[in-house]
Parts: sequence; structure tokens; C-alpha cells
Amino acid sequence: MCGIVGYIGGRVAADVVLDGLSRLEYRGYDSAGIVVASAERPELDVVKRAGKLQVLRDALTERARAGAPLRGVRAVGHTRWATHGKPTDTNAHPHLSEDGKLGLVHNGIIENYVALRDELKSRGHDFRSETDTEVLVHLIEEQYAGDLPAAVRAALTRVRGAYALVVTHVDHPQVVAARATSPLVVGLGEGESWVASDVPALLPYTKRVVYVHDGELVVLDASGATLQHLDGTPVDRAAEIIEWDADAAEKGGHPHYMLKEMLEQPDVLRRTLGGRVTPDGLDADLELALDPRAVDRVVLVAAGTASYAATVGAALLERLGRVPAGVVVASEFRYQEPVVDARTLVVAVSQSGETIDTLEALREGRRRGARTLAILNVKGSSLAREADDVLYIHAGPEIGVASTKAYVAMLGAFALLALRFGRARGTLDDAAAAAWVAGLDALPDVVALALSRRPQVAAVAERVAGARDALFLGRGFDVATAYEGALKLKEISYLHAEAYPTGEMKHGPIALIDRDLPVVALATPSPTYEKTVSNLQEVRARDGWVVAVAGDGDTGIAEHADAVLYVPVVAEGLAPVVNVIPMQLLAYEVAVRLGRDVDQPRNLAKSVTVE
Ligand code: F6R
Repeated sequence: MCGIVGYIGGRVAADVVLDGLSRLEYRGYDSAGIVVASAERPELDVVKRAGKLQVLRDALTERARAGAPLRGVRAVGHTRWATHGKPTDTNAHPHLSEDGKLGLVHNGIIENYVALRDELKSRGHDFRSETDTEVLVHLIEEQYAGDLPAAVRAALTRVRGAYALVVTHVDHPQVVAARATSPLVVGLGEGESWVASDVPALLPYTKRVVYVHDGELVVLDASGATLQHLDGTPVDRAAEIIEWDADAAEKGGHPHYMLKEMLEQPDVLRRTLGGRVTPDGLDADLELALDPRAVDRVVLVAAGTASYAATVGAALLERLGRVPAGVVVASEFRYQEPVVDARTLVVAVSQSGETIDTLEALREGRRRGARTLAILNVKGSSLAREADDVLYIHAGPEIGVASTKAYVAMLGAFALLALRFGRARGTLDDAAAAAWVAGLDALPDVVALALSRRPQVAAVAERVAGARDALFLGRGFDVATAYEGALKLKEISYLHAEAYPTGEMKHGPIALIDRDLPVVALATPSPTYEKTVSNLQEVRARDGWVVAVAGDGDTGIAEHADAVLYVPVVAEGLAPVVNVIPMQLLAYEVAVRLGRDVDQPRNLAKSVTVE
């Protein structure tokens, strides 16, 4: 989703902003632009292009060669993920006022932009783009009389919707930013400051940051940054020091972030699980204020991959904690008039903590009186600030747009939460708790073993890469694994893939089966193993091509499958953590064979901050 970087200070501002934007590429975008203010020019200097940052870089190099480099001490840049209007040069941000003096970038959606645009047009404003953003430019331009923060504040009283915006004016020696819902963070240096939509843009320069909250405005000048509410009253917030270093966000020698992140999963699990089991080895210490005995029902809200992690989480909470639990896709929750009360726990699950659907679902839960818990990766994110309790998954920065290590870390966090529920509610006895914890302890090494089987997955990928569609099947805890396997394949290889609970296949999807359809079936040990084997026979009787994911030692499965991906065997409830590994590897190997942009697949954004 759109990336924003603003800078003011003594460096070549355009270079700093361009570098920052390149560190936000993981968010996904389809055009990019930059605006620079300098004392030597009466107007702002802007360059923007549809396409990747390299296209913008090439345009800037051409300008420099022609003797007109982009120079100045204030710059604002943007990578745009198109919502209103196609990804064209004109629709790319920054957008300029008619007199060329004011430039603005925006992330989010202005919901009342049509009414505002009509009103502004009737007052003679000339609109150049198809974006909702441009109304902001004209509104602020109308209000500007030498005080940029005041003009932004006044303009924003007219606006409804989500935004993070950054504005600069050629006659005004500051950069002004404001936030409602979309993330913004300020970086502080000596005689320079930054504003960006995410921390990686700042890391090469500073680790001292201040998070901007909803309804706040920030004014940057070379001496630092000051925060205020949208009514102009000051906000006093201390800077925080970021612990990640820039290297943590690099590829570590691998061709893709996604591969690096998959291979990190054993370490990620060690971080998620480490230090969170009580000294007696029978309970989880998660530092939550929440009392599981005060919960009658759990509703989990999440999107995409996080929703599949939530599906496993719901099953674990029911199995270990004997509490009714179910998942509602976050984008649906707030429109369902959900039935929740003070004894309902609404759990929001999100890697980024910024997914607007999930954030709004959590807010809806709160509004209706539910207790809330957020299971998150990114610290200081919007969800972290709004939930009653937060359980961090500690996956570290996830740069690949397709989520892998965050998924596995979410499952680890749910395994701990379910243990806590089981113990607090008295539904998990000592022996069962000890066995569960022993399973958790072994998990990082087991996942490392599953990852080491990459060559067997690569062989299967050769065939899947030649298919047009694929079907993923799983039962019980692994229904979610099948959905996640299909989603991963779709996202990064662009092959069509469907997932079903295995038992559902005969109720319709069986019509799809022919020799061209790979059917990937999860068939590790479980009470339904034999039923799964029968279903595989049904596929093969119709010439389907079966890839079974089976437990080590299951020699019998080879009779019912054309290819077998073996995985180490763990407790049924922990199997999704292991079984998703061949799903991730398969999607990756297929995408590489098809020459896809693995880390930044088309049309996708890392952090989806629009509804
Ligand atoms: C899939 C993927 C998305 C996200 C979804 C939620 O690989 O990454 O489906 O899982 O957009 O994102 P978060 O977890 O940041 O709320």
C-alpha cells in the first residue's frame, strides 16, 4: 500500500527520499513520484512516473544529465497503490496546487471526495487527476495564508476518510504531515527530520522515532518535529528507539525476501515461543490482563493469511480451552451487526497491525462492549494501540508481500494462547499440558527439517508450474493449511487455485478433476486419515494428479498418490505449523519457474490500509 517519505535537513533531500521509498517498496505500489522545494525556485519541482521506482530514478538521471538535477533541502516522495484512477504519471503523487507552490502526497481514501471535488470545481479549481487526493491539495491551497499547519488543520475539518498526508509549500520552511488511520512515523536526527509511513525508510539514518497517532498533525523543520492535535493543541510524546537494524530488513544473500523469510522460520518460532512457558513447564506466561475464565466465546477477525492463522487458532482454543471460537473475515464483521458482549473476546490477528478491515473490526467489537486482544507483529501499530491486550508474535520485519514467517509465528502464538486458556479454564490436565509444551519445544527443529526437504518440493513444482489450476484439500486443523497453500500459489504464481475441506470435494469440486489438475492433499496422521485416503482414490479414479503431504514413515500413501511430500510427524494440533512449509515452498518454486516477481506480486500490497 502507498509509501510516504518526507525529509527536511542538510542532505540532498531528493536522494534521501528516494532511498526511503526504495525501503518501502515491499508495501506494493504501481507509480512513484517526488517533489522538492528549494530557495532558488519560485515553484516546486516535481517528477512522477507510472511503474516501479526504477522508472522514476531513470527520469531523475535524465534530468541530472540535462543539467537540471532535483535539488533542495525539503522533499516529499510517494509510492502509489492505485485506488481512484489508473496508475498513470498524472495520477501519481505528489499532486501540486494550480500555482505550483504547494505539493502533497496522501495514503488512504477521502470518502467524501466527490462532493468536495464538485464544490471546489464550482469555485473555479482545475482538477488534473482522477484521484481522491487532489481535493486535499485545493482545500489546503485555499486556506493557505503563510501558515501551513493552520491551513492543513482548517482543510482537514472538511475531510472524511482515512489519510496519512504530507504537504510542503515553496514559501514555507516546514513540512507538515497529518494522520487519520493510515500509519505515519517521524524520524529525528541532528539538524534534520523525516516522516514516513513505516520505520524501514528511516533506519539507515536514525533510530529515534515518534509515532504519530490518529487525529494528530506533525510539523517538521530542521531543528526537529512538533506534534499537535488537529485543533492545534500541542501533543507531548517522547521519542522511542527502534531496535531493528537496517540489515534485518535486507535479503541476507537470498534471491528473494520470501525465501529468506521462509528459511528464518525455525528462528522465528524460537522467538515467538521463547521465554513464554512458566517455570513448571505447564502453562504459558503471556503477560495479558485478560482472564480466560471471564470469556464465554471468542470471535477472531483477520484478513487473508492472518485469517487462516486465526482459523487454526479458533480450532486450538476450542480443543484445548473448550471455549466456542470462530473466525469472521474482518471486512465482513462490522457490517454484520455482530452479537458480542462483555464476555466475548474479539481477537484481531494481523502481521502489520495496520490492515484497515481488521482495525475497524476490532473497533466494532469494542463499540459493542467486547473485550479485545490483538495478535500482532509490528510494534506500535494502530491495532496495538487500540486493543485491550496485545500478544506479539516476534516474527521480525516481513518484507516479502506474501506472508510466510508471520503465519507460522501466528500459529505459535495461538498454540501458547490455547495452552493458557486450557490451563486457566481447567480443561487441560498436567499430562496433556506437558505433552503440548514438549511439542512446542521441538517445533523449531521440526520446521527446520521440513524446510530441508525443499528439493522434493522443487520436483513437484516442475509439474505444477505447467498446470492452469490447482486444488488444495485438507481436513480438521489442516483445512486452513489447504486455504493458505492455495492463497500462496495464487498470489505469487498467478495460477488459479482453490481450497476445500477434503470431505467437501465430492459435493461439487470433483467436477473439476481431470489429468491436468494437480490435487494437493494434506494427509498427515489424524483421526480422519483413512477418509482422506478414500478421497484420494476418488480423485485418482478420475485421472486426477495427486500430490499427498504425508507423515514420515507413511509408505502406504505412495499407492494413493502420484507424488508424496514427506513431513515430520507432530501432534495433530501442531501439524499446521509443519504442513504449511511444503505449501509455501511449492508456491515459491512454481513462481520462480514461471519468472514471477516473487517479493512484489502484481496488484498486491503488503499493508492494506483501504477498505
Ligand atoms: C497473504 C497476505 C495477506 C495478508 C492480509 C492481512 O500472503 O500477506 O493476505 O495476510 O492482507 O495482512 P495483515 O496480517 O498485515 O493484517
